[in-house]
Amino acid sequence: MKKNNAIRYKVIVRPGGGRDYPILIGNNIMSSLKNAVAGISTNCRVLLVSDKKVASFYLEDARKGIAGAGADIQTEVLPAGEKQKNFRTYAKLINRLAGMDDARDLIVAALGGGVVGDAAGFAAATYRRGIPLIQIPTTLLACVDSSVGGKTAIDLPEGKNLVGAFHQPRAVIVDLDTLATLPPRELRAGMAEVIKYGFIMDAKFTAKLEKRIDRLLGLDSTEMAAVVKRCCELKARVVKADERDTKGARAILNFGHTFAHAVETARGYTKYRHGEAVGVGMVCAAELSERAGMLDAGGAARVERLVDACGLPVKIDGAAPGELIDLMQRDKKTKGGKLRFVLLESIGSAKLVGDIPVRLVSAVLKKRCV
Ligand code: NAD
Ligand code: GLY
Repeated sequence: MKKNNAIRYKVIVRPGGGRDYPILIGNNIMSSLKNAVAGISTNCRVLLVSDKKVASFYLEDARKGIAGAGADIQTEVLPAGEKQKNFRTYAKLINRLAGMDDARDLIVAALGGGVVGDAAGFAAATYRRGIPLIQIPTTLLACVDSSVGGKTAIDLPEGKNLVGAFHQPRAVIVDLDTLATLPPRELRAGMAEVIKYGFIMDAKFTAKLEKRIDRLLGLDSTEMAAVVKRCCELKARVVKADERDTKGARAILNFGHTFAHAVETARGYTKYRHGEAVGVGMVCAAELSERAGMLDAGGAARVERLVDACGLPVKIDGAAPGELIDLMQRDKKTKGGKLRFVLLESIGSAKLVGDIPVRLVSAVLKKRCV
């Protein structure tokens, strides 16, 4: 990816209550960390949290960017992977913060994918009932989704993200150059969340993605910057409308996720990356939308084509329809055993629908499970 040291876009997230914050999107922009930190405090200590893989590429760049603000910087480098989003990691981060706590302000900076962002974010959300957080996402998923909107969490053995808090960051620095080292499978997994925004909120964006998906997968920097910006604008719109996920507006971001969670659970979280499960989950949800009479014929085929073009699965391997339906009915988000799905009304418009007949879900899964 070409280095041009430029902020290409600035998107403002407006969750209300004077907590507006910028998302800066560009290439080679770790130096922007200086102003992000100085805008919070000129007399501070920063705990820069990352994972081993990401740190090997970008810790020094991030450290240099922050150092420009004259901050005292300490680092905590975690092992990589979802397993780290646990109480031990949380306790480790909290202990580090307590050990750094003096007369200066404390800031957490999370450099990495959604795992680092969620765990470090949860530590920032809870230490002293909340200290400033800067997100520096380095996966596509984190750039367009997890770093924006304030959801932070760790996992329990009983389920993912069960202990968490809403805590909006003070700034999000999206340095797109970091995506150059992302394994192709992670890039494709992140693409699931990108195309999801089009399906649920923006038909024109979907049409654009349909034409340019190859350029995006090839990390064309102009395309990628514009696409990440659009996703962040759409997420910012949802967060403004329903920050706490209580009004139904934020729920549409779960398009494909009811199927995806069942698929991930059935396969023990090993076979599929989350984005891959979301890919096939969106295909299932679109077909269900057609069968429920909400989406015109042809809509589901369009969803399937774009998911497939991203290199994401469109079939479910190694899980039976009955098993998946059972898992969906036991999902913590299911109300009273009634199946609820985010369904499409058209490409670009979605809504949460309760009480979908099991026979429709079963028909979709029979076609998709191989
Ligand atoms: P991740 O953080 O595990 O990153 C995936 C892998 O890519 C890791 O091995 C990581 O070390 C590596 N990596 C990251 N950036 C890299 C880079 N630039 N170059 C090379 N390797 C790199 O996974 P993820 O997909 O980013 O995030 C998944 C997590 O996000 C899940 O825990 C999920 O629950 C959470 N999530 C949170 C929200 C939210 O709103 N808070 C939304 C969606 C997902
Ligand atoms: N990723 C779902 C949300 O932010 O609500």
